[in-house]
Amino acid sequence: ISTDEEEEAERPKDTQEDKNVEAADTDRVLQTSKVDSASAPTTVVEATRDDGSDSKPRKKDVTEKSKSVVESKPAVHVPVDRTPEMQASRQKLPIIGEEQVIMETINENAVIIVCGETGSGKTTQVPQFLYEAGYAHGGGIIGVTEPRRVAAISMSKRVAAEMNLTDREVSYQIRYEGNVTPDTHVKFMTDGVLLKEVQQDFLLLKYSTIIVDEAHERSVYTDILIGLLSRIVPLRAKPPVIKVDSRQYPVTIHFNRRTPDDYLTEAYRKTCKIHQQLAEGGILVFVTGQQEVQTLCRKLKKAFPHHKGQVLPNINLNNYSVEPTDEEAEMEQGDNSDARVFDPPPEGCRLCVVATNVAETSLTIPNIRYVVDTGKTKTKFYDKVTGVSTFRITWTSKASANQRAGRAGRVGPGHCYRLYSSAMFNDNFPQFSPPEITRRPVDDLVLQMKDMSIDKVANFPFPTPPDTDQIKAAETLLVSLGALSEPEKPKTFKAKVAKTAPTSKITALGRAMASFPIAPRYARMLAMGHQQELLPYVIAAVAALSVDQLFVEFQAPADAQNEDEDLKRRIQNINNVKRMWAGTGNSLLLGDLMVLLKAVGACEYEGLSPEFCARYGIRSKAMKEVRKLRTQLTNTVNMALPEVNLCVDPKLTPPTDRQAKLLRQIVATGLADHVARLMPDLPPGVEGDSKKHKHAYQCTELEDPVYIHPTSALYHKDKEYVVYQHIHETSRPYMKGVVAVEAEWLPLLAPYHCTFSKPLEDPPPSWDAETGQVKCHRTSTFGRCGWALPAVCVE
Ligand code: CDP
Ligand code: MG
Repeated sequence: ISTDEEEEAERPKDTQEDKNVEAADTDRVLQTSKVDSASAPTTVVEATRDDGSDSKPRKKDVTEKSKSVVESKPAVHVPVDRTPEMQASRQKLPIIGEEQVIMETINENAVIIVCGETGSGKTTQVPQFLYEAGYAHGGGIIGVTEPRRVAAISMSKRVAAEMNLTDREVSYQIRYEGNVTPDTHVKFMTDGVLLKEVQQDFLLLKYSTIIVDEAHERSVYTDILIGLLSRIVPLRAKPPVIKVDSRQYPVTIHFNRRTPDDYLTEAYRKTCKIHQQLAEGGILVFVTGQQEVQTLCRKLKKAFPHHKGQVLPNINLNNYSVEPTDEEAEMEQGDNSDARVFDPPPEGCRLCVVATNVAETSLTIPNIRYVVDTGKTKTKFYDKVTGVSTFRITWTSKASANQRAGRAGRVGPGHCYRLYSSAMFNDNFPQFSPPEITRRPVDDLVLQMKDMSIDKVANFPFPTPPDTDQIKAAETLLVSLGALSEPEKPKTFKAKVAKTAPTSKITALGRAMASFPIAPRYARMLAMGHQQELLPYVIAAVAALSVDQLFVEFQAPADAQNEDEDLKRRIQNINNVKRMWAGTGNSLLLGDLMVLLKAVGACEYEGLSPEFCARYGIRSKAMKEVRKLRTQLTNTVNMALPEVNLCVDPKLTPPTDRQAKLLRQIVATGLADHVARLMPDLPPGVEGDSKKHKHAYQCTELEDPVYIHPTSALYHKDKEYVVYQHIHETSRPYMKGVVAVEAEWLPLLAPYHCTFSKPLEDPPPSWDAETGQVKCHRTSTFGRCGWALPAVCVE
């Protein structure tokens, strides 16, 4: 295949030299404190173990305590009783040769960076080096953070097996579950889990060492952790970088001469060709998303059906898929599809793995010799001011393309087929991908940081700070939700001249909201739900809203990538759900929230049966996630408000009309900045076909009209006022997660967005016993557009 006239070959002179240190897979080892196990400052450790729950230490303690523990070094060697097989397989890893250098550097520095190829043994071995060097001796835990849950679980299992220890000693903790015990020495966790722990125990004193794995990935929580740890461990000097010499075999890079229009067809063509013409060795294909993984797998399976028991070397293709990249799809992992790729393929079969960029670094798939790289990646973008999100398929970065190529050189010399031209690579691929923190709203982070008393978020030492617009938008939202106080106006002349940006502080409501592991707007709904005694519904609703993609995405046939087909199928799914849990009158106005509640209610009733979910187009893994989140939220509420005492496993019955109406009001408080109003006629400035714009809405954030998504329960229902969960732009800007609201509620539910004729407190709204409604004694308008609102408000 390397003589294919469509390709130009490029053999790197020296793969090692070629690699940019920054681009390589990097782990950061940050030592918060080294526990001297011999001279027993176990008091420090155990004291924090017991009180791990309450107040944060004052600033003063930070320096004193960390000083006293950082000076000392562990002096014991803790033996590990590995099986001979494990010992032998470890010896093959490049990092084993670096143990002494790594440990000496760790002993002499507060922070070090370990950097080396995927598969060189960083994640599995560094915790063991630390353990053997006594870092877990005497009670300190070796903590390892991972950006992905699946990695935290699988790595803890792997390390336990290598060390011949149980999961009581090498454990994991992810958002909903874990197996940490008082005997835990090595703890793998998601970065978000450690971030929460920092809030309870700012010094992280129960850890002797923190390893921030996959630091180069720049996930938002990892970024914040690094910022926080840089405060916890005062950085004295630039941390030393240790490069692990990996036994990377040369990988020949083949660029396409021309960049094809249809990269998926090209990937199919190339994979078939490799399989038919080239010597044995696994194939790893990089595409952009779940749907592409499935389409390509289907086509390949059809082209090379695998018959059980038939041995035809190099003819059969056994393909597996590793899904997918983005957060909504992360929970797809952890099922058997990703476990199977570690097993050898059946006799006579070639392994072929179709994957998204999750296989770039975190997971090492054995025996890959050929990499087919489409060069594409799917990334979520959002507008920092309007919050409108889009998924875009873009060129990946040069760094990640090189990571992908590197996967082919693990077992021997390999080949990487890049389905794009070298000119395209040189001119159009960015050096690195922008870190996640610059690509998503930061309201949840700002709230968490304010809760940690980090008030000046803009001054926080982020590795890459979020944009000021992002922080401003987040603070505005949090003030409007009541989580932050309105920033104080500068009182003194001096302050005015200094132009220091006023900071807003967290409110009591904000603290309560920060304790829930969900986005602030949903936390606000929960807080309202308590007042209205609708908690089981609100909990179910926010759990369902917090979990992305409850419904199966339509699998478009490979040849017809037609959005209309996609929509038809999705509408069918939603209609099925609508039928199965018959609601009544007013509840229809709950729109998409009602669909979610119905799905949750019906699935619970059916015991979360996968067959039932499949029949109604519900993703059963997403529904299990909803289940876990419901339990967790219920427990959190019960803990915070013992007098409420909710049932942890409530069966949801359809809400009554009155409950449905209150639910709509609760949702409106959380989505108060997401109100849209039906446009009476053709939107101003829009020309031509008036039918096309018939159901257009105006929203407060955008100039252009927006539309209700065809899969929505309120599609073409023409409700005058609606709130929406988010706007996602595909062929048009579409509102998703739509619920109908009444204009007269807005002055009371969304006062922050209203302009009143007189101050709200003067006189305060009053209860009209006759009509049973709250009366608002003033006229008001809503939002940027200045919609005039009626004066009567909420029930
Ligand atoms: O972190 P890094 O990418 O440097 O490597 P690692 O994850 O520590 O993996 C080291 C070796 O252990 C690789 O050869 C993996 O294939 C192997 N491994 C495994 O066999 N089973 C696992 N569950 C994890 C890793
Ligand atoms: Mg790793």
